[in-house]
Amino acid sequence: MQNKLKIGLVGVAHRAHIARHWQEDGRAVVSAGCDIVPEYLNKFKEEYGQDTFTCDDYRKLISRDDIDAVAIFTPDNFHAEPAIAALEAGKDVFLEKPMAITVEDCRKIVAAEKMSGRKLMIGFNLRYNDYFNTMKRVIEDGTIGEIKTIWIRHFINYGGWAYFHDYRANQKGSTSLLLQKASHDIDIAHYLIGEYFDRVAGMGTLSVYGGDKPNDLTCDKCPESGSCGDFSERSDGPNKRMCCFRKEVDVEDQSAILMSTKNGIMGTYQQCHFSPDSWRNYAIIGTRGRIESNPDESITVYTQKKNQTRKSAGFSYSQARFEIGETRGGHGGADPQMCESFLDYLIDDIPPRATSLDALMAVAVGVKGAESIRNGNIPQVVEI
Ligand SMILES: NC(=O)c1ccc[n+]([C@@H]2O[C@H](COP(=O)([O-])OP(=O)(O)OC[C@H]3O[C@@H](n4cnc5c(N)ncnc54)[C@H](O)[C@@H]3O)[C@@H](O)[C@H]2O)c1
Repeated sequence: MQNKLKIGLVGVAHRAHIARHWQEDGRAVVSAGCDIVPEYLNKFKEEYGQDTFTCDDYRKLISRDDIDAVAIFTPDNFHAEPAIAALEAGKDVFLEKPMAITVEDCRKIVAAEKMSGRKLMIGFNLRYNDYFNTMKRVIEDGTIGEIKTIWIRHFINYGGWAYFHDYRANQKGSTSLLLQKASHDIDIAHYLIGEYFDRVAGMGTLSVYGGDKPNDLTCDKCPESGSCGDFSERSDGPNKRMCCFRKEVDVEDQSAILMSTKNGIMGTYQQCHFSPDSWRNYAIIGTRGRIESNPDESITVYTQKKNQTRKSAGFSYSQARFEIGETRGGHGGADPQMCESFLDYLIDDIPPRATSLDALMAVAVGVKGAESIRNGNIPQVVEI
């Protein structure tokens, strides 16, 4: 057995938990961690061993000869700098989505990937999720004909906790939740329809979060903590305690964008952060049928019965149900599969399901959606 790959993590807190799949895989070992919060580094050492290397400056980690690959789990506005530096230092890189928060930074990351000749994979775990891959199989086997439309509704009941207690609630931290959250869905739409959207128009607003609380108010010091309007009632870790109703909150908590491709496929995406339930509802319509995802994560495929027209009285359709079955691991079993794919890429040169261009395009569409929302809802051309 060859030597195990040594992976260093930049940002070791919440999302970095997926690194344990690399350790469990047997082909890699998590040997170093960097974070600016000492408490998180202590937990990292407890999990991966007291002899692991830790530091608070990512440059010390990427300059080590005994690190083969760097996995980046830092906030979105701190993706580009460590990703480019790690590629330039000759490391392969796993970078969480969204690739970066501007198209310009994404371009720089893609350029560094090309110049360095190193491997870069973006954390688009949903491409490894059976729910979406079942839809993709149905599309590819021609059951619903030629794809013309995709509609996505995204209900999020943990929005306050996940997106408004920290940097994600500010444009300077995330640009828009159309990147932070919707980059997954824009990417899955591209994956399913096989094309990129090149025009986008949107509307959005702050309906529940944001307000007039001081920017330095944190939940641990707030007399209203637990009784305020943030029904998500979760705040874990020192970096997730900022008040959801602080003045500086300036990203939309509900938004809707319309998109189209150059071949005329239309798409819509709607996102709401104060819904009582959480799920992604997809409807994909082709020339012969429609796929609809259900709240129990099954999929129903409706197909028009042959020799009937919409005008005839007897018009009817067939229904077929696809169960996804039991999955193990985060995001419907996608996280372990995505982590395995990173090692397959590094060790056996098997490319991941999303390319860096896919990641750039998901950001580019989200950025233009946000621009449209914030500038009179004017349709925008997506340019990279
Ligand atoms: N693919 C997915 O499904 C998925 C799910 C959750 C999060 N994510 C992505 O993972 C990333 C991290 O998300 P999270 O929820 O863990 O965020 P987080 O803010 O909870 O954690 C980020 C970590 O980075 C550390 N950090 C911040 N600045 C740093 C710096 N300069 N150097 C080193 N460490 C630094 C923080 O202290 C923290 O430990 C985000 O980009 C997010 O979009 C992806």
